[in-house]
Amino acid sequence: MDRIRIVGGSKLNGTIPISGAKNAALPLMIAGLLSEETLILDNVPRLADVAQLQRILGNHGVDIMSAGKRPGAQEYQGQTLHISAADIIDTTAPYELVSRMRASFWVIAPLLARMHEAKVSLPGGCAIGTRPVDLLIMALEKLGAEIAIDGGYVIAKAPGGLKGAAIDFPKVTVSGTHVALMAATLAKGTTVITNAACEPEILDVADCLNKMGARVTGAGTPRIVIEGVTKLHGTRHTVLPDRIETGTYAMAVAMTGGDVLLAGARPELLQSALDVLTQAGAVITASNEGIRVARNGAGIQPVTVSTAPFPGFPTDLQAQLMALMACAKGSSHITETIFENRFMHVQELARFGARIHLNGETATIDGIAKLRGAPVMATDLRASVSLVIAGLVAEGETMVNRVYHLDRGFERLEEKLSGCGASIERISD
Ligand code: UD1
Repeated sequence: MDRIRIVGGSKLNGTIPISGAKNAALPLMIAGLLSEETLILDNVPRLADVAQLQRILGNHGVDIMSAGKRPGAQEYQGQTLHISAADIIDTTAPYELVSRMRASFWVIAPLLARMHEAKVSLPGGCAIGTRPVDLLIMALEKLGAEIAIDGGYVIAKAPGGLKGAAIDFPKVTVSGTHVALMAATLAKGTTVITNAACEPEILDVADCLNKMGARVTGAGTPRIVIEGVTKLHGTRHTVLPDRIETGTYAMAVAMTGGDVLLAGARPELLQSALDVLTQAGAVITASNEGIRVARNGAGIQPVTVSTAPFPGFPTDLQAQLMALMACAKGSSHITETIFENRFMHVQELARFGARIHLNGETATIDGIAKLRGAPVMATDLRASVSLVIAGLVAEGETMVNRVYHLDRGFERLEEKLSGCGASIERISD
């Protein structure tokens, strides 16, 4: 199993190209199931989760051709996927495939909308809380689906097709909003989703669906209206830049000091995180090329932050911020409001000497002057990258074990960081 070895202490200087967003690429690929015609997606990141979803879609009979520059090529712009779901040969998504990635459960929506049936295993994914699918099922039932759960599978049927409905989410859910949105595009009549998630990835998917002939308005706001159409057609769409990858590297620079251009990043996708970083002492400048992050010699200032749905501070940057605050000049408070149990990184950060005290959903971090390198273990996708950030400043050597979590969500991480002067390498056993 691969490991990542880091020797801390180098400042980051240079340019890091930001990849396409994993959390948009996955639902966009799934949206390819909605049409018989080919959906072409540009700027798809090369990630283990993308490859896994390719296998899942392949199992349904979807033909996927990939092209694009190889990792390491200059001016890297991800890969282009040609997704062709002309014939769906199987509406079952089996346990062996779905259990490895939670988002793959979302295939239930296009399968049900287009084929009027789906049998999808209950999902797996990161170990961050219970992450149920009750709200996804509620949304599909509102649209007229009959749903049964049997042997770990959700069996959904809509013999006459789905019908437009009012769907009011009792809590903001990205997965629920994606599923309701995709399913409603081919439903008869109008669907109104209220308390919808406003994440930029929802808007990106809605834009693509509209290019495919869907009639969606209001995406990116809490009220989305979808007028169902009978068919969707092919189109070409570019995946938006990854705001979580952007925020992660921004925090890495704030941690080490230096000056890095995050090329292709868009500030409006993560303004709340950039505001927090500014408060912490980073200097952030936006330009046509992307976002420049710098920190001069001054120390890291402590902050108080709660995670929240977009446009709030993203839960997917919580672990990285905690690593940064481990070195702040004072005490910080970070409250996690989206996922219970998303503090698995705390005990690993403690191995660097970080002083973190947990009280319910709030972590208090008492900053210390120097972290020390340690062997640590990646527990989930975002937690693992927080260990990398800590390793970049820790004195001596850090070995991050179980990096397959990193490969699910960060494209060429060690290459991007070493390109800016970090001492980081992958060790394959
Ligand atoms: C997505 C993102 C993930 C991010 C999260 C919150 C993808 C592939 N993943 O995850 O990176 O951390 O949004 O921004 O886009 N919930 C229920 N019932 C449901 C569905 C969700 O109670 O049926 C709860 C969850 O347990 C959680 C909260 O709602 O507490 C938010 O979950 P949700 O927004 O759906 O997250 P994901 O879509 O799984």
